[in-house]
Amino acid sequence: MIELGTQSDIKLINEDGLRIDGRKFNELRPIRIEVGVLNRADGSAYIEWGGNKVLVAVYGPREAFPKHTQNPSRAIINARYNMAAFSVDERKRPGPDRRAVEISKVIGEALECAVFTEQFPRTSIDVYIEVLQADAGTRIAGLTAASVALVDAGIPMKDLVVGCASGKIDGKVVLDLNKEEDNFGQADLPMAIIPRTQEIVLLQMDGNMTRDELEEAVELSKKAAMYISDLQKEALLAKYKASESEKEGERSE
Ligand code: CDP
Repeated sequence: MIELGTQSDIKLINEDGLRIDGRKFNELRPIRIEVGVLNRADGSAYIEWGGNKVLVAVYGPREAFPKHTQNPSRAIINARYNMAAFSVDERKRPGPDRRAVEISKVIGEALECAVFTEQFPRTSIDVYIEVLQADAGTRIAGLTAASVALVDAGIPMKDLVVGCASGKIDGKVVLDLNKEEDNFGQADLPMAIIPRTQEIVLLQMDGNMTRDELEEAVELSKKAAMYISDLQKEALLAKYKASESEKEGERSE
């Protein structure tokens, strides 16, 4: 933990070029993804990304309700991002606020770019993202887990969507800001990408960066996204390998 102070007092990068949690400028926090963690959902995933812990449940495609929300030519994606009251230092008032509405909207739109929604007219695909512990970067952690949960639900997609953020601290562009860096840094740039097409499907910025810095941050996140995409696939494979060996065990009994 660092002592709180004004932005200018706080040194986020030391003389050796290391950040307060010991990472290099292009290093991600540890990421762990688990698939199929909820029995009642059609698809689910859990992600730990540094200090973030996020659970995602997917339902659908199912008939959209109320009926007037149905789109006759495609499925609608309802993403709902929610922060648990105990997920942050100061108890968060339960229920949606402006921030949660905004994050739900951008996550839903990013996922929509990858899902073949036209295969499921008049339906909704509901994606519940529950942040259990927050440490900056929850929207991209939630989005990364949500795309895995969609695959777990058997929903056809172009590719997995990968979220990643970069930002600027102590005047330097770095990958994957943690909470202190997000609070006392100069900019945060959450982004999401479809690796197969390299399409950027979410890009937001909080703070200020020059055009060159922005390009550098996008490149850092793009590179990291390829690695995160492999983690998503490994997590999916691990689930299906485990259920295959379970079935085999049953057969041999
Ligand atoms: O989490 P993300 O970076 O996507 O969104 P943010 O709005 O930039 O929030 C950054 C961090 O601030 C969150 O991850 C939380 O750790 C913290 N936060 C908080 O402590 N209380 C809130 N009501 C909202 C956010």
